[in-house]
Amino acid sequence: MNLLAELRRRFRPALAHFTADVDPLLDMIRPSQPQHGDYQANCAMPLQKIVGRPPREVAQQLIERLELDDLCEAPTIAGPGFINLRLKDAWLAEQAGQAVRDERIGVAPAESPRTYVIDYSAPNVAKPMHVGHIRSTVIGDALYRTLGFLGHRVISDNHLGDWGKQFGMVIYGYKHFRDEARYQDDPVTELARLYQLVHQIIEHQAGKPTRGPAPLDQLPSLSEPHPNLERRVLDETARLHRGEEENLRLWKEFMPACLSALHQVYDRLGVRFDHELGESYYDDRLSKVVEDVQAKGVAEESEGAICIFIHEFPAPMIIRKSDGSFLYATTDLATIQYRMETWRPDAILYVVDHRQSEHFEKLFAAARLWGYSDVELMHVSFGTVMGEDKRPFKAREGDPVGLESLLDEAVERAYRLACEIDEKKPEGPQLSEAERREVAEVVGIGALKYADLSQNRTSDYVFSFDKMCALDGNTAPYMQMAYTRVCGIYRKGGVDISTLRDAETPIVLSHPAERQLAVALLRYSEALDEVVKDYRPSQLTSYLFDLAKTYSGFFESCPVLKAETEELRRSRLLLCDLTARTIKQGLDLLGIGVVDKM
Ligand code: ARG
Repeated sequence: MNLLAELRRRFRPALAHFTADVDPLLDMIRPSQPQHGDYQANCAMPLQKIVGRPPREVAQQLIERLELDDLCEAPTIAGPGFINLRLKDAWLAEQAGQAVRDERIGVAPAESPRTYVIDYSAPNVAKPMHVGHIRSTVIGDALYRTLGFLGHRVISDNHLGDWGKQFGMVIYGYKHFRDEARYQDDPVTELARLYQLVHQIIEHQAGKPTRGPAPLDQLPSLSEPHPNLERRVLDETARLHRGEEENLRLWKEFMPACLSALHQVYDRLGVRFDHELGESYYDDRLSKVVEDVQAKGVAEESEGAICIFIHEFPAPMIIRKSDGSFLYATTDLATIQYRMETWRPDAILYVVDHRQSEHFEKLFAAARLWGYSDVELMHVSFGTVMGEDKRPFKAREGDPVGLESLLDEAVERAYRLACEIDEKKPEGPQLSEAERREVAEVVGIGALKYADLSQNRTSDYVFSFDKMCALDGNTAPYMQMAYTRVCGIYRKGGVDISTLRDAETPIVLSHPAERQLAVALLRYSEALDEVVKDYRPSQLTSYLFDLAKTYSGFFESCPVLKAETEELRRSRLLLCDLTARTIKQGLDLLGIGVVDKM
């Protein structure tokens, strides 16, 4: 049951009596501060102009038209005309009981499912992946899971950067600087080193020496035999794009190794994609795209280049350079065309760093001019991950994929945490070494993901192992611990929870803390709607954190195993059960696992 949706459904006919434009008024029904009730409807104020009566009076007229008797106590009017709604205990208890017996714990699938393509992760294959790509991966995966659970058709597509200049750099590096033994031994690490070295020399030649694999004093001698390296790299790139045999052969040789290194990271993160159609996949469509865009009168030639001029932007979007080469934007246009032809999505979401927002604004405007006007194109942008020094976070140098060391460190910290928790148990340590390691993997990876997901995605955030592993805050370990505590109750009481669940045991709300927990549990469905509304997984982490706190309040005031009556004991066990299942499921939608004990 979606409480808010149900209330809005009830308000609709009552509001329709006053105005035709009901939707904005329905948005004014919201959860309220507990002291005022459960929900508050603030629609009487805007209605006063239409009705021509003072808002309190409008509120009264509205209440008279509402049919809420089965689910709410009599509504009250407060202040200038707020309508306060308090759900009936019996109705809440009934809804909670239904959620207990429902596999979807009370979340109905979407009434009108949509088709979404989600473009996320998309690292550049030849370069080390950076922490921003984790952010994209983790946010994209959470959206994929949540939309899918809500019954939408979701297609995930990893738009790998597997083409273009970065490969020109690696090919050049391979031809001129490779260490054959290292390459044989560990191709991906060597290719990453070559990429960084070529980058370093190009920067050196541009007068901006940056750190890289070569010691600074050796840079001049490395650079000298390769004057104008950037030009040479572009030539290698052009040779690859033209399909010249040697470069194409090298590309085909490098790709499997690079991909398998990436997949190791994805496996560890528990992320998989329906498709991985990288930039290279679109190569043979590019010239036709440019022709078509030109034919439709959307692009024009300017100084030898083909450009799409877009109103709001002074600089056009170039789709073919004067030397005939294509750009990132051209590939993105081809990708939109392909996705529309193949999947006919209602929406395409691009989970990409905020630094690309101008690219996407132009791309979407260009796509609309080109004729793709009835698809929602959305840049689900996110902020920069900062180090504790408040500068963009950098993964450890020499880490080929750039991320394994981060994952290892998170898991190592979680291992220490697991040992600490285990050793402090009053009954003495309970976990074997293997169990501690298992806990560490789930908690460590979970902590890393949760830290990312719990941030408002549009803000920058500071990456801190200490914070993400804290047991007392809005973190994965806190949520995972709340889950294991519930499991601990069943173990302690010898409770067979699934039998209890199926036994149609009624929920009894005898204490305010029980009631509050029931309301919190029934708001799960609302939280998922909030995630989807603006593609913000942080809505779900905040919800889960509130739920866990409400649960603690309940647990402190309401004995479960020692409840006063058997009826109460069973009811409370089921509230615990629903809490644990909501946490487990909510975390699962975020791509985070749980363990039964820790
Ligand atoms: N490979 C790009 C990068 O790492 C991200 C690609 C995002 N997706 C897209 N369709 N442009 O910056």
